[in-house]
Amino acid sequence: MPYRLTVLGTGYLGATHAACMAELGFEVLGLDVDHSKIERLRRGELPIHEPGLEELLQRNLESGRLRFTTSFEEAAHFGDVHFICVGTPQIKDGYAADVSYLDSVVESLAPHLDRECLVVGKSTVPVGTAQRLADKLVRLSPAGQRVELAWNPEFLREGFAVQDTLRPDRIVLGVASERAEKILRDVYGPLGEVPIVVTDYPTAELVKTAANAFLATKISFINAMAELCETAGADVRQLSQSLSFDERIGGKYLNAGLGFGGGCLPKDIRAFMARADELGAGQALGFLREVDAINLRRRTRAGDLARELLGGSFDGRRVTVLGAAFKPNSDDIRDSPALDVAAAIARQGAKVTIYDPAALDNARVAHPELDYAGSALEAARDAHVVLLLTEWQEFVSLDPEELGAVVAARNLVDGRNALDAEVWRCAGWHYRALGRP
Ligand code: UDX
Repeated sequence: MPYRLTVLGTGYLGATHAACMAELGFEVLGLDVDHSKIERLRRGELPIHEPGLEELLQRNLESGRLRFTTSFEEAAHFGDVHFICVGTPQIKDGYAADVSYLDSVVESLAPHLDRECLVVGKSTVPVGTAQRLADKLVRLSPAGQRVELAWNPEFLREGFAVQDTLRPDRIVLGVASERAEKILRDVYGPLGEVPIVVTDYPTAELVKTAANAFLATKISFINAMAELCETAGADVRQLSQSLSFDERIGGKYLNAGLGFGGGCLPKDIRAFMARADELGAGQALGFLREVDAINLRRRTRAGDLARELLGGSFDGRRVTVLGAAFKPNSDDIRDSPALDVAAAIARQGAKVTIYDPAALDNARVAHPELDYAGSALEAARDAHVVLLLTEWQEFVSLDPEELGAVVAARNLVDGRNALDAEVWRCAGWHYRALGRP
């Protein structure tokens, strides 16, 4: 393999990218400023729950193709291509994205870049960031113009990170020269036949935010239809299924329920709106405010359904919440709809007990005021209402009789439209779901 790669930032994206690039045969050096994270990665331990990734990490550590460091100097001397994979979280007092980690990586790396190399941004950023960082890079690097920037957004989903990285739908390359394009085509060559779009910086940056905005819009569209179904006595599941047969619409991201959460969609649509406002194009993204509002209203509605089942008050009631992760097969609780609903119900006077197959440790830290149990049945003991808020397979295959035997009352809110209503009703449950009669 001709190029040696570094991956700067070893969070979700970085850890996955580093392990996958090593798997493709490259020598890879992962870097993070967090010493404890680097120590764990060196031992082959992942700080996150991601199917298949730990095996990949360990295999490539053993082969010696993958190593980790905290030294920017070492990374600068090692790498021909440097991938920046740091996060761009929502700022504390607004909607915009905090890009300070990106600036800090460039400021730490550039002074050591004394030979030709390519720096590739993969983070999700406000449009215009790449050009600003490209200028900064050239200004701060001893090698000057021989250090170049490219923008190559990442589209991976949590839970499918390895698969999405090794078999991507498309590769988008925002480049300023043919040389940069050639290097990135070489790097991704081992992935085989993948559509590659070669474009400029702003288009590459926008593809990522536009993709997330579209997905969020699709989810909120079906959840808006769910609101209508609730008032009209219609069934959003059948509505969505019927829409999905139209190939122009497609069935993906049309599952009505509690809506989207996680570390990306919510903060990315907000940052997108904030950036559009800065550019004087806020009107173009005005609809995303509605997308966000529809999404958040679903959380309120889930709590309302549970309260209705209890006759109008949570006071002194025991409530079971199944699910804490923002989606199944993940331990990520960032902007988790499930935890948001659980916390809101607790604030209304209920005793809330939560169970999740993977996210309990994270949930405990974020919400010490809630109670936690080691299994679904334990969490449901003596409950007056059970809410299914993250559709783990373990919950979808729960036996209504077995669960019914431990609760105080057979009340159920299916916040993800994941269960067979008839089966639960036949077992004597008062079953309520979002968007269904
Ligand atoms: C998302 C994008 O899919 C990915 O391309 C991007 O790189 C990062 O953001 P991720 O955050 O891992 O990935 O989650 P995703 O699987 O897209 O789900 C997002 C949220 O939408 C989850 O809370 C999920 O429960 C919800 N969702 C998804 C729905 O409510 N309905 C659906 O039909 C699909």
